[in-house]
Amino acid sequence: MARLLVDSSLVFSMGVAGSPITTILKVMSFRVAVIGTGYVGLTTGACLAHLGHTVVCADIDPVKIAKLRDGIIPIVELGLAELVAEGMTSGRLSFVVGSVEAAKNCDIAFLCVPTPQGEDGSADLSYVQRASEEISAALPFEAIVVNKSTVPVGSTKVVERALKRPDVKVVSNPEFLREGSAVQDFLKPDRVVVGSDDQAAAMKVASLYDGLSTRVIITDPASAETIKYAANAFLATKLSFINAIAAICEGVGADINDVVVGIGSDKRIGENFLRPGPGWGGSCFPKDSRALIKIAEDADYSFDLLKGVITVNDQQLDRVADKIRLAAGGNLSGKVVAVWGLTFKAGTDDLRDSPAIAIIERLMKLGARVQAFDPTVSVARIGIPNDLVIATSSVQATAQADALAVLTEWDEFKWVSASEIAGHMNGTQIIDARNLLDRKDWERAGFTYQGIGR
Ligand code: UDX
Repeated sequence: MARLLVDSSLVFSMGVAGSPITTILKVMSFRVAVIGTGYVGLTTGACLAHLGHTVVCADIDPVKIAKLRDGIIPIVELGLAELVAEGMTSGRLSFVVGSVEAAKNCDIAFLCVPTPQGEDGSADLSYVQRASEEISAALPFEAIVVNKSTVPVGSTKVVERALKRPDVKVVSNPEFLREGSAVQDFLKPDRVVVGSDDQAAAMKVASLYDGLSTRVIITDPASAETIKYAANAFLATKLSFINAIAAICEGVGADINDVVVGIGSDKRIGENFLRPGPGWGGSCFPKDSRALIKIAEDADYSFDLLKGVITVNDQQLDRVADKIRLAAGGNLSGKVVAVWGLTFKAGTDDLRDSPAIAIIERLMKLGARVQAFDPTVSVARIGIPNDLVIATSSVQATAQADALAVLTEWDEFKWVSASEIAGHMNGTQIIDARNLLDRKDWERAGFTYQGIGR
């Protein structure tokens, strides 16, 4: 398979200028089915409709589909509600129950179903297989199926076997969407990756993204699938590295913020994705890093580096919990700890694999009473530990607390008055695991401030 690194503007000049393929691909909008309306599927469907394609999004959950038809978006994603409304108003975006209904009139069907972590760490492909089997008979002749979900290397063949449709080509088109900025990441991508052994199918999928001024990397399926895992694993490595350097900074009296600027000024390193914190979490990094270790094992390679990245991340959770324990006097039994932030990062309402939740569980296991505030959590829901007290404001969370820990970098926490909090708390200890607060403000208000790496 020729590996072509082309800019989207070049994708169409690869045919002879003015040739039919150039003309057809340049202006054609496609009929797209999106199977699964989660973070990835809903964003993909709404954005492809915004790009001019006719999109039918399918889910197995009729309640979810009914809400989407009413414009009710079940996730926090900046700009998504507007794109869904735009798509439905223009008639380019619709929602149906069941994958067959969406697949029967499509040119291209995206699989955006979950690929959860299996027992052995590998990605569980049962949803992908089931969706492929379901749509197989409904797909029009020579339709294309696209793997958008994060799937292990070699999954293209898994889908081909499940489809049993030699006329249907399967293409890998991994997503690089961050929760909370998924719409922006889709419409302003650093690159689009398309993996297929069939050039025409690859070009057709690439042409979906026409109008996005970005680099289109056309390669084989295995390389496209590997790019996705390698990208997430490298980003997690960057984060574990900077958290380790932050721990060293604490020991040698250096300031991690200056160290990040000092190393990040080197273009080979870059300043992005080097904010120390309580550890990395979310629905992707933990799952994808373990899946890549399994993929490596199956390829007879022991990915010790990535195992170390995961170990450092687990240790970071322990380190932050220990900081809080020591700040509260060393024994948390009967102590009250206030926590700001529950989600795995700011900008999303997602609690999956949240470092904040993992640290709270550690504190509660040591006997602390934890009262937490998060702007996206008003009542207990899946993922919230039992006995966690949900506060209705950042100030209320600090009532009679012996220590306050900032675990998610919600902007609003920056603007809370330190002197107001001083009047609410029992103790004067602040553990800012996101280096979010202004240290001087809090020290002036009488607090003992601890950051990460500074
Ligand atoms: C990630 C990848 O960024 C995205 O490309 C991929 O498609 C899906 O997985 P996401 O899981 O939404 O996206 O979160 P991301 O923004 O990458 O953050 C992951 C974790 O790292 C969060 O817990 C976040 O708080 C943490 N993080 C991120 C840091 O601790 N410091 C940083 O500088 C950046």
